Amino acid sequence: MVSWPAAVAAGWYPVAVAARLGRRPLARRLLDEPLVVFAGAGGPAVLRDRCPHRAMPLSAGRVDAGRIVCPYHGWAFDGAGTCRHVPGSTGVPAVRADALPTRVAAGLVWTTLSDAPFPRLPAVMEDATLDRFWWTPRASAARVLDAVENHLDPAHPHHVHPWIVRAPHRRRRTRVLVTIDAAGAEATYVEERRAGGLLSRLFEGYRTTSTGRLFPPTIADVRFDGPDGLRLSIAVVFVPEATGVTRPYAHFATPRGRWPAGVKRALLTAFHYPILMQDRRVLARQATRAGPYATGPLDFLGPAIWSLAHGTAPPPDSYEAEIWL
Ligand code: FES
Ligand SMILES: [Fe+2]
Repeated sequence: MVSWPAAVAAGWYPVAVAARLGRRPLARRLLDEPLVVFAGAGGPAVLRDRCPHRAMPLSAGRVDAGRIVCPYHGWAFDGAGTCRHVPGSTGVPAVRADALPTRVAAGLVWTTLSDAPFPRLPAVMEDATLDRFWWTPRASAARVLDAVENHLDPAHPHHVHPWIVRAPHRRRRTRVLVTIDAAGAEATYVEERRAGGLLSRLFEGYRTTSTGRLFPPTIADVRFDGPDGLRLSIAVVFVPEATGVTRPYAHFATPRGRWPAGVKRALLTAFHYPILMQDRRVLARQATRAGPYATGPLDFLGPAIWSLAHGTAPPPDSYEAEIWL
């Protein structure tokens, strides 16, 4: 088993969408550890997926009155991991299943294998004025930091998503503003686009920006802004399930508008499904090769992603660059 970068090992990660936690326990993995998630009497509970009696996976059991019941001999554990019932006996041994810290935030159940405090989440995840939803594709073969970088990377869409995201041969001059600090890193891309017609004449300074922001260690938010503010934010929490296996929780946020939220949800997920599949192919192939990475002139956030994941803050920096996107 490999050791995880310090900040990744100490992170909080989602293990379920709170509203979808039903009567069945969920088997999850986090940082190579098997976990079980279930609806406890006092709210969602996360335990290590191992019965303390004879090591049976508790996720193979059932939930009964807020307790998880082991499928082997029927011992029942509450959300705090305390053994509450042993069938065939009136006594209960002072035994605990290993319970992890649990928090419900932004509609997800979060947990950690560390004693770190709960992190700051992107504000869009808790902005009730927006239309928001979680898209939860399955886990796939990818190294977690590669996946974080992929979401923030401006240089691959021409090659990996030609025509869907970028026209492969039509690049435009783009100004990039990069800010790196101890709390994260951000790159804003300003594409100076002059639409024809009256509006662009009236609004000389019309600009469209997109911004990639890293919330270390593994949350990446890409947002698109128009002249009147946010148009779309895609904030993805990348969960390191196991070595080379990553599960994304993707949060889409758009301003309330003419389109019903359900229609936007259907369109956004349909549009992003092929993009997700294309990125997955790249990430799976990339994960078959080890070794150090070279940094190129368009890798604005990569070095910060890796150094913050290892718990070393990069030197604060702020600069502008010019590229062709
Ligand atoms: S192994 Fe779980 S009750 Fe015996
Ligand atoms: Fe991509």
